[in-house]
Amino acid sequence: MLILGIETSCDETAAAVVERGTVVRSSVVAAQHAVHETFGGVVPELASRAHVEAILPTIRAAVDRAGVSLSDIDAVAVGHRPGLIGSLLIGVSAAKALAWSLGKPLIGVDHVHSHLYAGLLTCDAGATVAVDTAGFPAMGLVVSGGHTVLYEMGSWTDLTRLGSTIDDAVGEAFDKAAVILGLPHPGGPNLDALARASGADDRAVQFPVSRLGPESLDFSFSGLKTAMMYEVRGVPRHPSRKEPGLAVDPVPMTDDRRRDLAACFQRAACAAIMLKLERAFDRVLAAGRRPATLHCGGGVTANSRLRREIAGFAATRSLSLRLPAMEFCVDNAAMIAGLAFALHAAGRFADLTLAPVPTTAC
Ligand code: KG4
Ligand code: ZN
Repeated sequence: MLILGIETSCDETAAAVVERGTVVRSSVVAAQHAVHETFGGVVPELASRAHVEAILPTIRAAVDRAGVSLSDIDAVAVGHRPGLIGSLLIGVSAAKALAWSLGKPLIGVDHVHSHLYAGLLTCDAGATVAVDTAGFPAMGLVVSGGHTVLYEMGSWTDLTRLGSTIDDAVGEAFDKAAVILGLPHPGGPNLDALARASGADDRAVQFPVSRLGPESLDFSFSGLKTAMMYEVRGVPRHPSRKEPGLAVDPVPMTDDRRRDLAACFQRAACAAIMLKLERAFDRVLAAGRRPATLHCGGGVTANSRLRREIAGFAATRSLSLRLPAMEFCVDNAAMIAGLAFALHAAGRFADLTLAPVPTTAC
């Protein structure tokens, strides 16, 4: 079975063809960095306009690179939530038009849930990886630029949200910290590279690791971001003190200090994620449900330190780990087509009333 996936939830126009839910025959991603770079963030109206221009060439390229024609496609899947409403609208409209004109089923996919599926994707045409129905119950962790969420998963269609961020997503915190450190775009990968540089001391500064109380499975990254700002720019006086100036002057920035701050930030961000992942695992276990698998996804699963820590955690808890290949960590349409295979098997089809929705279902 071949599924065409379409993804336009934010600032990437993406299309992919995936066979049997796991083998990626093609995955095309048209990024819009140049459109938004000068604004320091994604401008929704510009994003939807760029999607309009890119959507048909991107779908055409995905079908061509897969070596198939549109008539070979068995179903059309689209990420229809969550995301920027104007961006989602472009993908959803294209998917509906294609499904209707080809007379093929239409499948609506939750973008955040699809990140969890990315670890099952492979570019190896000979792969025999079957969709893992035996790997449940499972735990799920999505760490991206827009989302930081923990799930308990009974199946691909039975997800319970255990916790999520109460402020910034972890990827957003990486990006902001990178800006404060004066690193170029893209922030997260550049901060990761700097933190890995030889001689980096990840204990040079103690950044806060948010806990949010002993029972909480939620995340918070705004304090960590602020701590980075104070380290670099100095600590402002308390607002009750009227006079301007700093309560604590910043330590002068050098290349070594920048490298150490990157390593310390990365250490604290990863510690906050691992703390809640461990708590969530223990909570599910204590409730008598032993997770068999850990599905992880989202741009921050590309982080070198987090990948190492997640792998270590999965090994000590005897969890089968599904960590995406680097190219499937960030937004792509192969994960949309992949999860759609499981939804197809569960009979979860959409009709032409499928609407874009800015928020996730759970
Ligand atoms: O999954 P994604 O493409 O977008 C959302 O769905 O939000 O994730 C993008 C995020 C960005 O914040 C980017 O800085 C972060 O993933 N990211 C990283 C790394 N690679 C990408 N963060 C830390 N370390 C990395 N190596
Ligand atoms: Zn995403």
